[in-house]
Amino acid sequence: MNHNNLKTFADLKDKTVFITGGSEGIGLAMAEDCVRSGAHVFIFSRNQTKLQQALSRLLKLPHDPNQIIEAYSCDVTDFNQTTKIIQDVITKHKAPDILLNVAGIAKPGFFQDQSIEDMRQMVDLNVFGIIHACKVIVPHMTKKKSGIILNTSSMCGFLGLFGYTAYCASKFAVVGFSEALKRELKPFGVQVSVLCPPNTRTPGLENENKSKPKEVLATEEKAKVVNPEDVSQATFKDLLRGKFMIVPTFDGSLAYYLNRVSPKILDQFVKRPEV
Ligand SMILES: NC(=O)c1ccc[n+]([C@@H]2O[C@H](COP(=O)([O-])OP(=O)(O)OC[C@H]3O[C@@H](n4cnc5c(N)ncnc54)[C@H](OP(=O)(O)O)[C@@H]3O)[C@@H](O)[C@H]2O)c1
Repeated sequence: MNHNNLKTFADLKDKTVFITGGSEGIGLAMAEDCVRSGAHVFIFSRNQTKLQQALSRLLKLPHDPNQIIEAYSCDVTDFNQTTKIIQDVITKHKAPDILLNVAGIAKPGFFQDQSIEDMRQMVDLNVFGIIHACKVIVPHMTKKKSGIILNTSSMCGFLGLFGYTAYCASKFAVVGFSEALKRELKPFGVQVSVLCPPNTRTPGLENENKSKPKEVLATEEKAKVVNPEDVSQATFKDLLRGKFMIVPTFDGSLAYYLNRVSPKILDQFVKRPEV
């Protein structure tokens, strides 16, 4: 149960939702679900062309004419820019009831081959992107003593996978940050949850696959790839029930459970082949 009296999609009607990384992939699928539910939806990402394409897709969905649906170019790795753009939207409209931090990037590669620049880019976006948006929005939520924050991690946020050292570092950090923030904000009635999706059919995954070592690709062949629409549906179901750790598929939940009770069993499925 969350403290916000939100239990089903229908309760999203008239709520205000801010989504970072809302122009593509999982973020866009979540934006679509929010529009269909009658929420006011604001998406934030960098590329104007992708934002405009996403916006026209959202505006084509059946919605009430009073619903506000807008898109803003914002690089969440830049704290000053994020503060200005989000504050301006809050001043023009209102502070969000729900913040979905979805923007993120994966650049796989073996530790010995990966550049410091690539590693830093993942930490900057996956960790600081979330911290920046939270830093601007949390004071508004604590003030009105309600709100929901969802931070996107990954199955790499609880499972250290070969080929993903820096990505895992960033996504474990998201889980740690979210768990601490959850405890910190609970007295204010603000819910914090964390999303750990499996491989999901998105432009991000397509890009990621281009630089994925072949050993990683071979290991992942056994894993199911899901659609962003399914991730969104499963996520909202858990989010609106007030769940903290959201692992949207059965396989993912099984991996999460096994890793906690018997990591050795899981080792067999995720070990790097002999070199
Ligand atoms: N897809 C998967 O298999 C998978 C699995 C586990 C976890 N995840 C996580 O789920 C989240 C969404 O993944 P996805 O695959 O849907 O991603 P995606 O298809 O690559 O979409 C990423 C979104 O984030 C935006 N973005 C990127 N850099 C940004 C920045 N600096 N500031 C603001 N927005 C930025 C992108 O737009 P611009 O480029 O225009 O800014 C885009 O809207 C990420 O956190 C990812 O790590 C994904």
